[in-house]
Amino acid sequence: MKNFKRHTITAALPYANGPLHIGHIAGAYLPADTYVRYLRLKGEDVVFICGSDEHGVAITLGAKKEGVTPKAFVDKYHSLMKKAFGDFGISFDIYSRTSNPVHYETAQEFFKNIYDKGIFLEETSDQYYDEQEGIFLADRYIIGTCPKCGNPNAYGDQCEKCGTSLSPRELINPRSTVSGKTPVLKPTKHWYFPLDKYESWLKEWIVEGHKDDWKTNVYGQCKSWIDQGLQPRSITRDLDWGVPVPLKDGKGKVLYVWFDAPIGYISATKELKPNDWKKYWQDPESRLIHFIGKDNIVFHCVIFPSILKAAGGYVLPDNVPANEFLNLEGDKISTSRNHAVWLHEYLQDFPGRRDELRYMLTSISPETKDADFTWKDYQSKVNSELVAILGNFVNRVMVLTWKYFDGKVPSAHELPATDDRRKKILNKYNQAHTDLNTSVKDMIAALDDFRFRESQFHMMNLCRIGNKFLADTEPWKLAKDDMEAVGSILNYALTVVGNIAIACEPFLPDTAKNIKSQLNSSAIDASWKEFWKKQQLIDPVPQNHQLGKAELLFKNIEDEEIDKQVAKLKKPKVVEEQKSESAVKPLKAQVTIDDFSKLDIRVGKVLAAEKMEKSDKLLKLTVDTGVDQRTVLSGIAKHYSPEEMVGKQVTLIANLAPRKMMGIESQGMILMAEDADGKLRLLQPNEVVNPGSTVS
Ligand code: MF3
Ligand code: ZN
Repeated sequence: MKNFKRHTITAALPYANGPLHIGHIAGAYLPADTYVRYLRLKGEDVVFICGSDEHGVAITLGAKKEGVTPKAFVDKYHSLMKKAFGDFGISFDIYSRTSNPVHYETAQEFFKNIYDKGIFLEETSDQYYDEQEGIFLADRYIIGTCPKCGNPNAYGDQCEKCGTSLSPRELINPRSTVSGKTPVLKPTKHWYFPLDKYESWLKEWIVEGHKDDWKTNVYGQCKSWIDQGLQPRSITRDLDWGVPVPLKDGKGKVLYVWFDAPIGYISATKELKPNDWKKYWQDPESRLIHFIGKDNIVFHCVIFPSILKAAGGYVLPDNVPANEFLNLEGDKISTSRNHAVWLHEYLQDFPGRRDELRYMLTSISPETKDADFTWKDYQSKVNSELVAILGNFVNRVMVLTWKYFDGKVPSAHELPATDDRRKKILNKYNQAHTDLNTSVKDMIAALDDFRFRESQFHMMNLCRIGNKFLADTEPWKLAKDDMEAVGSILNYALTVVGNIAIACEPFLPDTAKNIKSQLNSSAIDASWKEFWKKQQLIDPVPQNHQLGKAELLFKNIEDEEIDKQVAKLKKPKVVEEQKSESAVKPLKAQVTIDDFSKLDIRVGKVLAAEKMEKSDKLLKLTVDTGVDQRTVLSGIAKHYSPEEMVGKQVTLIANLAPRKMMGIESQGMILMAEDADGKLRLLQPNEVVNPGSTVS
């Protein structure tokens, strides 16, 4: 392989339209993170880039469904996703977002650059237009009857019933999903990228050039796409959410999301390294690698590289190790059916068990074909591999060293083969050493080749071999009469533990840290780079070194924990929706406008507030009502502190008959909004108004 100076590693920018689940993690983010950690440990120069993809119909439709603006929608999911990634420990150097100003600038520059070279085609064509809403309709906003199977709810780009891909004009009886009305055809101008002109170059670069080093699933998809013949692709849309087309006649139009999103990798790098980003994208000695799921292959291998080529001066992806899909309990992961393991829920339900999920997802990683996550399998991987093999080995070595040597690393004596017992020990040692070194080499070769599943297996072999070495040499039996042998065995076993701490770090970073702290080895961290370079066992725990306390690395997962997770999946989402619906109180009986107008509702200002003695619910407020100052008791002590209340605007019923509570008369009632969980929030005008303002 060519030697590169630095690495630009990207993981697909996820749409900011919902929480992350294990399918996302197994598809792109965990393999990318494992690889990046490996590179960093080797001492390579690497940037690890990701962020939220905040444009496109996935966003505008989602926002519509939640009844909020696209901006509010992406703000919400961007922070949720960023937090979940952070909590799980995915080690991005930056997690940016495509609504950033830097990104708008970068994407527009890209467009302008290619436009100025005269590469784009312009074409005016008839497209469906919703006259009531005054908007052109994206394919997903049009439904109608499928011409193939008669499904009355086929989308403008695809019939989900029979799978046929469609164009909006093929639909029978098309209707707008925005207004429900029949759309009309209206001419509109768009810009097209002439992908057909790049066909022969793509053949040379991918079909000839990457036949051997790209994964077969990736290469196969690209080849069949290119072989079918390429067409110009429109790269603009009539939408009001996205990066505006930077042309005079581009008013009301935005860049197509698949044009701007991959450029987001570059904008994020700019944001991370404002003075230094160019070398990661323009120096041929930078190695660009995209980690993605299989549904993104064509965009990353064919379309984006062609755009980079058209822009000129950019490096192209050296590899695109795309994964297949992950299923869950034998069924497709589905957001709408709530058939998913959500990352943030996992982290809540299994605190301190991030590595357990990493281990599971890597060991079933869908690298060559779709894979299936089952909770039973998760439990067995944790209990019979992490606990029984890795955790057990490390713990035995630690405990034995404390038992026989007070936690000090014993010296490795020259062990002359004076008797059969010693001969056997030396034999077992030689065998273990050879096997361990082979495993280290195999592990690193697999890492270099993006075969993480296999690589992790070789890493675990270090523990298997370690356990076997202990079982074969039985130091606890030698303790009676050959302490030199016991010392030598444990010295070597500790070397293996040290190497495991290094080897497991790309896969299980928390565990690596934990073993390091048990070994009390932060001082010798520095030499550990050597391991990854030499690709063989090194000696990270010198004799006489004082170890830290022994602790268990992993706990068994109990049946109940698993049963609970499985039950959660079986509960259809509708049930939850019903629950929250029934939590909304039913409507009260009708009243007339006269009934309502009897109430004198006013805005007041809180002048003072204090806790009521002997009540954890009530606050005693002094309120300026504009007409007077009065005392009002309010049951909000659990929701607001007295300090918080002072100076706040409140809305109150000012003519409610006074009521005595706990010996004090309350002269009015503060209005509050109460949600299904009983949480109270003040009802306030959305701007400051004078005390005494009436509400009607
Ligand atoms: N948002 C896309 C998806 O979730 C992936 C975009 S990758 C990028 O499928 F390169 F365009 F950013
Ligand atoms: Zn159909």
